[in-house]
Amino acid sequence: SGLRMSPSDLARIERIIVAACGTSLYAGTVGKYLFEEFADLPTDIEQAAEFRYRNPIIQRDTCMVAISQSGETADTLEAVREGMRKGATVLGICNVVGSTIARECARGVFLHAGPEIGVASTKAFTCQVAVLAMLAIAFGRARRLSMDEGAKRVAALRRVPDLARAALEREDAIRKIAEKYAHAEHCFFLGRGIMMPVACEGALKLKEISYIHAEGYHAAELKHGPIALLDSTVPVVVAVPDLPGKIKTIANMQECRARGAPVIALATEGDAEVRAHADDVIELPPCEAFVSPIPVVVAEQLFAYYVARAR
Ligand code: BG6
Repeated sequence: SGLRMSPSDLARIERIIVAACGTSLYAGTVGKYLFEEFADLPTDIEQAAEFRYRNPIIQRDTCMVAISQSGETADTLEAVREGMRKGATVLGICNVVGSTIARECARGVFLHAGPEIGVASTKAFTCQVAVLAMLAIAFGRARRLSMDEGAKRVAALRRVPDLARAALEREDAIRKIAEKYAHAEHCFFLGRGIMMPVACEGALKLKEISYIHAEGYHAAELKHGPIALLDSTVPVVVAVPDLPGKIKTIANMQECRARGAPVIALATEGDAEVRAHADDVIELPPCEAFVSPIPVVVAEQLFAYYVARAR
């Protein structure tokens, strides 16, 4: 039945908690950047199993966003129930109509992404990001986001299918790179800002689909320990589209290559700065920062798929 929240209901919310697991948790973490940027809403990310047992702090103006593709993940369902017991306004973002979480939330947004056939959540992730962006615009318009700024973001969302299509058109280049690194037994994915959860999602896809040990890390965090694991056998995938902080991520790429680790960059097409510090580059279309997770994650999904095929 939709959000069932009027603009004044939206305006009364002072804090958002996202509760989810796995891929949905990473989509929710992308949402954190959108809620904070578009609506100035402090947003906490909660792994659902942690949330349900830790006696969370819920205020009367807290909105809990439960994200679950299947709508049946037990930890997320129990997190919904705990949030309700403590008086939160709970929204569900689910893909399966009629699922338990959707029914118990009684308000929210269905993805209509079509059924996810495998365990790995792919189109659900991109649709979750799109829905979270729409929610962030709705909350923002009940605050300081102007009609013009809201309209610009809606226009950018309408261009998302073109971005996904452009990423899919790189399939052959991605396949070649995937085959080159398919023998690896360990892999890191790096990103900063909104690309950090996208890096974690790329690592999860590689784990789930190709059974390679893969870890997602903040680009700046790698040097605080894990960099000791890098050598020529450990490829590092870096999500580094042309966004603020790119130059810092390029420095992290140099740190990886200094230890002999091959660097695969997911970059904005034509970015010579990034290309100069990568062994391989997957070029993606330029776009607004808030929709950049979508072409990048499509490339990560294809990378994981073709690595798995090669193995
Ligand atoms: C895990 C799957 O079991 O559940 C992940 O392996 C998925 O791919 C996670 O993201 C959460 O599932 P859901 O349906 O709650 O989004």
